Amino acid sequence: MIVRPKTRGFICVTAHPEGCAAHVQEWIDKTRTHGVVRGGPKRVLVVGASTGYGLASRVSAAFGCGADTLGVFFEKPSEPGTLGTAGWYNTAAFEKAARAAGLKAPSINGDAFSDGIKQRAVEAIRSGLGEIDLMVYSLASPRRTHPRTGVTHKSTLKPIGEAYTSKTVDTDKGTVGPVSIGPASEQEVADTVAVMGGEDWQMWVDALEAGGVLAEGFTTVAYSYIGPDLTWPIYRAGTIGKAKEDLERVARELAVRMAARGGRAFISVNKALVTQASSAIPVVPLYISLLYRVMKEQGLHEGCIEQMNRLLGRLYGEGPTPVDEFGRIRLDDWEMRADVQRAVAELWPQVGTDNLAALSDIGGYRAEFLRLFGFGLPGVDYEKDVDPHVMP
Ligand code: NAI
Repeated sequence: MIVRPKTRGFICVTAHPEGCAAHVQEWIDKTRTHGVVRGGPKRVLVVGASTGYGLASRVSAAFGCGADTLGVFFEKPSEPGTLGTAGWYNTAAFEKAARAAGLKAPSINGDAFSDGIKQRAVEAIRSGLGEIDLMVYSLASPRRTHPRTGVTHKSTLKPIGEAYTSKTVDTDKGTVGPVSIGPASEQEVADTVAVMGGEDWQMWVDALEAGGVLAEGFTTVAYSYIGPDLTWPIYRAGTIGKAKEDLERVARELAVRMAARGGRAFISVNKALVTQASSAIPVVPLYISLLYRVMKEQGLHEGCIEQMNRLLGRLYGEGPTPVDEFGRIRLDDWEMRADVQRAVAELWPQVGTDNLAALSDIGGYRAEFLRLFGFGLPGVDYEKDVDPHVMP
């Protein structure tokens, strides 16, 4: 089969098996070049491990720290004659590389919000991996079926209180235009918190603790975002921001609970990056296109893997992990630098369809988006027939 990108709005419905493998290999190579984190974790569970920040966390733990890893994710497997999703191919490539390096790398494909998958993870740790010293929580999902009530909550990306008007880019067409989003109802806020807030993270820690699979000094980390004034109404002050506030509340509770057993719990506030999840948020892709231009010009640009290599260095480096006044790790420190934000804020009112390519890194945005699905990787022959069915 010849596999080409097929984009529909902000998703790409095809994925290239060899391209995804090449992408994962790039991250492994970058991690090896970055160097080993001494004293890093040795047995790691990553929830949301197949793409974006979770996959980068898994690569960094395995190839930067020599850790055995258990990955949990929700992906469509490939079948004979039928493509799987990018996360499926990423995981197949990751597992092969990890095993070749002598590391254990089992995975569980299923709904992480369910009790059943949590129990399967506990059993996999008990019977194969051994007690875990790090759990990364990196889920991004549009819906969650609550394991107790059976209700399916859907998350929304809306402002709260009043409508929000700004501009956004259609990354497919390369056009910039106004966007107006009406305020969320109370139910929509509650549903978004139910999906992307902290309850499920806490349920994971509860299940792992009850299952007796947490090692001495166990650490857990979940990912959040804050961002600048430009995206404030749609992100931090919006429905997703309420969910992140809830995640941060749970982090504070878990930090107290874990400290009692010599462990730690953190929020890491990460940089805005092109991922499958972030491309769905209105306004944010235009902000990212400008941010990439500014950060690349200033030599400050990082992708998921550079961020996660920096995170593990902070978590396991010498001395206490540096945190802000609210106890959060700030990997968005370079993004939020005053000079970076000033430069983005200056470009924001000027950018339109005509000057999009000149003022922003829309080319870089698009290229990185396609790379998420295995397209545009050097050394991959995209004219060659590939077998879509790839098993780990
Ligand atoms: P992503 O879309 O690349 O990854 C999401 C992961 O969650 C995938 O592995 C997917 O398989 C898994 N997943 C989704 N639903 C699932 C389910 N029901 N059961 C099991 N696995 C499921 O997303 P990304 O961007 O890496 O986001 C991860 C976290 O990082 C999120 O909490 C996000 O808010 C946060 N973050 C993202 C930033 C960005 O700019 N992309 C910035 C700062 C934080």
